[in-house]
Amino acid sequence: MRAALYAPGLGYYAAGATKLGASGDFVTAPEISSFFGAALADVFAPMNAKNVLELGAGSGKLARNFLDASPDNKQYSILDISADLRQRQQAILMGSAVNWLDALPEKIEGIVLANEVLDAVPCEIVRFRNEHYEQARVCTANGAFEWMWQTLLTGSLLDAAKHRIPPIEGYTSEINLEAEALVATLAERLTDGALCFVDYGFPQREYYVPDRSAGTLACHYQHRVHFDPLRLAGLQDVTAHVDFTAMAEAAVDAGASVICYATQAQFLLRANLLQRFENTVFSSEVERIKALGDIQKLLSPTEMGELFKVLTVGKGSAVDALAHLADIDQSYRL
Ligand SMILES: C[S@@+](CC[C@H](N)C(=O)[O-])C[C@H]1O[C@@H](n2cnc3c(N)ncnc32)[C@H](O)[C@@H]1O
Repeated sequence: MRAALYAPGLGYYAAGATKLGASGDFVTAPEISSFFGAALADVFAPMNAKNVLELGAGSGKLARNFLDASPDNKQYSILDISADLRQRQQAILMGSAVNWLDALPEKIEGIVLANEVLDAVPCEIVRFRNEHYEQARVCTANGAFEWMWQTLLTGSLLDAAKHRIPPIEGYTSEINLEAEALVATLAERLTDGALCFVDYGFPQREYYVPDRSAGTLACHYQHRVHFDPLRLAGLQDVTAHVDFTAMAEAAVDAGASVICYATQAQFLLRANLLQRFENTVFSSEVERIKALGDIQKLLSPTEMGELFKVLTVGKGSAVDALAHLADIDQSYRL
């Protein structure tokens, strides 16, 4: 997955594919509606944070909309491992107070945003077979990619598998220790502020249910979904749903508190997205109806509203500043 997505010059995020948007392979919330970034700016406004760090900023639209909706001047930084996307971000954010980082800062203060980033961090596939846990590996044979399975004898992946993957013959799913490590590093380096992860996924008890026995790994190519990552390697997105329990535990172990876990619909409604829509002056009725349709995609339970979750964790004064999220918090589900 790392090679298919990030190998220099060849990986999906490292080469020239259009990726996001109508002419690419998939659309994300910031691509659908500018109200998404504006709603995030509104939710975090009570923190009065000077700094925002966005991970994996895609086309830069979330940054654009967040900055446009922020009442004060922010120092906005972007860290994206895709050099190709960085160029697109620089074009859309030209003239704004944005800087691009090459590595995570040692100390982080303020707001950290990551929309659909954790699902793109390379995960492992593990299955239970013949009383053992096995890890999927990819090899080449006769010029083609093939799966091979390696029994897990020891190590943190085996420990996680024993805890999460049900011992049902053939049960296969994903574990993303690298995404957990990323969340842990961010939480460790956070001195005062909030980390906000928006993604599709579930808490552990909903993720590793017996019915979901083939896992969640999926590939996106030209707005179609399929489940064979060994085809079109480097030309398509490969992603897995996020285990939000694991992400919350990683943050808490690193000293942060869970401020809120909610569905995207609950979160955006709490952010007064509908009021912002009502207060917006559109150039025509057609524009207004189009914007409403886009908002509907973000909120509808049959589109992004329920499958996408928002996990906000924090440290220091951010915890009190974001107390308004308490009434939508569903962290008991984690
Ligand atoms: C699915 S795209 C989402 C883009 C954007 N956030 C959006 O919502 O439109 C995933 C993004 O995460 C970036 N990415 C993946 N792993 C990362 C990491 N460890 N640090 C920073 N960016 C990362 C990719 O380069 C890509 O820009």
